[in-house]
Amino acid sequence: MTRHLLDLSDAGGYAIAAMINDAIDRKSARKVLPKGKPDADRPLEGRVLAMIFEKNSTRTRVSFDMAMRQLGGTSLVLDAASTQLGRGETIADTARVLSRMVDAIMIRTDDHVKAEEMARHATVPVINGLTDRSHPCQIVADLLTIVERSKALPGLEVAWLGDGNNVLHSILEAAGLMKFNVRVATPAGYEPDADFVIDARAGGAQVTLTRDAAAAASAADVVVTDTWVSMGQDHAAEKLAAMEPYQVNATLMRRAKPDAIFLHCLPAHIGEEVTQDVFESAQSAVFDEAENRIHAQKSILLWAFGLL
Ligand code: CP
Ligand code: NVA
Repeated sequence: MTRHLLDLSDAGGYAIAAMINDAIDRKSARKVLPKGKPDADRPLEGRVLAMIFEKNSTRTRVSFDMAMRQLGGTSLVLDAASTQLGRGETIADTARVLSRMVDAIMIRTDDHVKAEEMARHATVPVINGLTDRSHPCQIVADLLTIVERSKALPGLEVAWLGDGNNVLHSILEAAGLMKFNVRVATPAGYEPDADFVIDARAGGAQVTLTRDAAAAASAADVVVTDTWVSMGQDHAAEKLAAMEPYQVNATLMRRAKPDAIFLHCLPAHIGEEVTQDVFESAQSAVFDEAENRIHAQKSILLWAFGLL
């Protein structure tokens, strides 16, 4: 069976734990190597990943490319608009053509249904590099960052502040799979999709939905936020105003545990969802988190190729 990663549940908790462990091992084994030099075992030698982007990207694009290089393979980037997709060729035909030409496909798209369609018709692994619904690869990197800071996932208290968006959806999915708890503070009307909350609770996670940012952050181990306006959304003044009480600032961080870490998938909007002092503080793990996209991506790719 071809392994796709459209959402974290496609892998499951056991595989995610294996990804985190593998990422820790590979990261430590290549500490002194130049970034472009392959790992000694070159497990993906000769393999090619095609990356399709319908939206902008820095971290996802570079980390997948570097991940393939470090695993001994290569990648190529397709700007969706300049391919025949931009002129109406179907996802189904594109999936079948790319499956004859490359060994795996990563897609970043404005519509999760397109990623599902790609996976349905591809005979090689399809990986979700962010959709309007979820961002699973980001959360593998986030979990790796948390574990690296010696925090165990089961029972962890994670506070999410701001918009109930794609990144939060994948955190909720991870919570159900890895048994940690999430306190979600959003303004009314910006809650996460109910199905992610229901599934996380069914998996054993405690999920609290609140309007009270301070209560959500209280005694948290990890405080997470993201942009108030995701790609493809309008910069509506009323949304920005509603988000203001959910800014992660020093007062809010004081509510969390003294050793709490701050995460943000980036890009950040300083002065909106997070203040400069928190972003630059010793509690902020955002650049480890960004680097860990490479290490997480490598484990995700190995899993997709059935090598993990
Ligand atoms: N966090 C993240 O996915 O960043 P990019 O949009 O730069 O890929
Ligand atoms: N929620 C953001 C994440 C960017 C990496 C977006 O979808 O734009």
